[in-house]
Formats: sequence, C-alpha cells, structure tokens
Amino acid sequence: MIELSDVTKTYKTGAGSFQALRGVSFRIEDGEFVAIMGPSGSGKSTLMHILGALDTPTSGKYFLNGKDVSTLCEDELVDIRLGQIGFVFQSFNLLPRATVLRNVMLPLIYKSVEKSEREARAKVSLESVGLYEEHYHHLSNQLSGGQIQRVAIARALVNDPSLILADEPTGNLDTKTSEIVLGAFQRLNQEQGRTIILITHEKDVAEHSDRIIHFKDGMVVSDTKNQKNLH
Ligand SMILES: Nc1ncnc2c1ncn2[C@@H]1O[C@H](COP(=O)(O)OP(=O)(O)OP(=O)(O)O)[C@@H](O)[C@H]1O
Ligand SMILES: [Mg+2]
Repeated sequence: MIELSDVTKTYKTGAGSFQALRGVSFRIEDGEFVAIMGPSGSGKSTLMHILGALDTPTSGKYFLNGKDVSTLCEDELVDIRLGQIGFVFQSFNLLPRATVLRNVMLPLIYKSVEKSEREARAKVSLESVGLYEEHYHHLSNQLSGGQIQRVAIARALVNDPSLILADEPTGNLDTKTSEIVLGAFQRLNQEQGRTIILITHEKDVAEHSDRIIHFKDGMVVSDTKNQKNLH
C-alpha cells in the first residue's frame, strides 16, 4: 500500500530552485492499476522517482507498506528498490551487447542469486510477457519495439516486485504493439495481483487502468475511477 501525504519536491538549479511537486497526497491500495496523466513538466517522472525510492521528497511523507520511505538512507532505499519495486523506463534501454536472457537476469546479480536460479527466474519472467526460447539469445537490435519493451517489463518483474512503476512504457510504439504491451500489464495486475502505476500521455493507454490521476503544475487536479475498466 502506498500513502503520500503532502509531498513536495524542490530541485535546486543554477538560477535558484524549482518546485516540481507542490503538496501531493493520495493512497494507492495493493492490487490497483493506476494511470498518471498530465502535461510535460507537470511532475510525473519526479513523482515516479519518489514512489520508486530513487529519490526522497523535500517535505511530506511517503509510506510504502507501512514504512516511512521519506526518511530512509541510501542503503535502505536500495533494499526497497531491489526487493519490492520493478521499473520500466521508456528511455531505459537494454544493454545492447547482452542477450535478452542476460538483460533480464541482470537485476538478480545485485541480489547475489545463483546463476542457475537467475536463469530459471528470467525465463519465467520472459514467459509471463509472451517471450520464449527463440528470443533468449537475441540482442536488442534483433527485436521489435514491442519485444524490447516486453524484455524491459520482464526485467522489472524478475525480482518478483509487488509494485511495478512504468514511465511511458508504450511511448514509441504503434497501436497494435501498445496493445500487446498493455495486455501484459493487465495480466500482471489481474492474474497476479501486482500493483501497477503507469505514466502516460495517451488517453487510450490510461483507459486500460482502473483509476486515472491527473497532474498539473506539480499537483493532483483530478483522481477518478475508470468506470469502463472496473472488474
Ligand atoms: N534534476 C532536476 N533539476 C532541476 N529541475 C528538474 C529536475 N528534474 C526535473 N526538473 C523540473 O521539474 C519539472 C517536472 O519534471 P518531470 O520530469 O517530473 O516532468 P514530467 O511530468 O515527467 O514531464 P514529461 O511528460 O515531459 O516527462 C520540470 O519543469 C523539470 O524541468
Ligand atoms: Mg517524465
């Protein structure tokens, strides 16, 4: 469960400072599928970094599964990232000279999981997004855009996170490929009960979620259930 209470984030810049989040509060229950929308510069990625324990708020509180993340030190943040969260970044390219399988195994190296187990878990993870043996040994330049995104999702899943954060995961994809990637997210949510928070500019993409939170100028301007998609 996620609880944000009056979270702000101020970036120091050469010219002074910029407040990217201006008092954000909401709760997200386990198993929700939430879309975050809003114009460029409205603070979506900033929020995602805080939710993902990649950064801490300037003020306010962030509770993740009852733990106050806003006060943790870097080592403790790393533990949370490795243990509970899977990230899918639009700009987070795969390692180009590593195969699909090695890319997906990578997060487990930091958790000192044995090689045979790393491989087994990577295969399960790839299977869950519809990628099989014939793709294991491909490099990213031998994959389609949708396949690359699915490898990125598989990599986010390999540490069995309860929370998946995805920043524009379908940003560069055509409609058909987007549907395949979004289908993978929906299955992870509906069949495996994982909490998913997905940033998108596209209304069509947000329609796949159960709840849509709109941001503007670092604040929540609306937070609504997506009636179409209630299951
Ligand atoms: N490290 C930083 N230092 C200074 N300002 C920053 C930094 N990161 C982000 N900002 C500023 O904070 C604001 C919010 O940025 P953020 O990346 O969260 O926007 P966004 O909603 O994700 O936009 P987009 O849709 O374009 O990805 C922007 O005005 C940006 O310039
Ligand atoms: Mg962004």
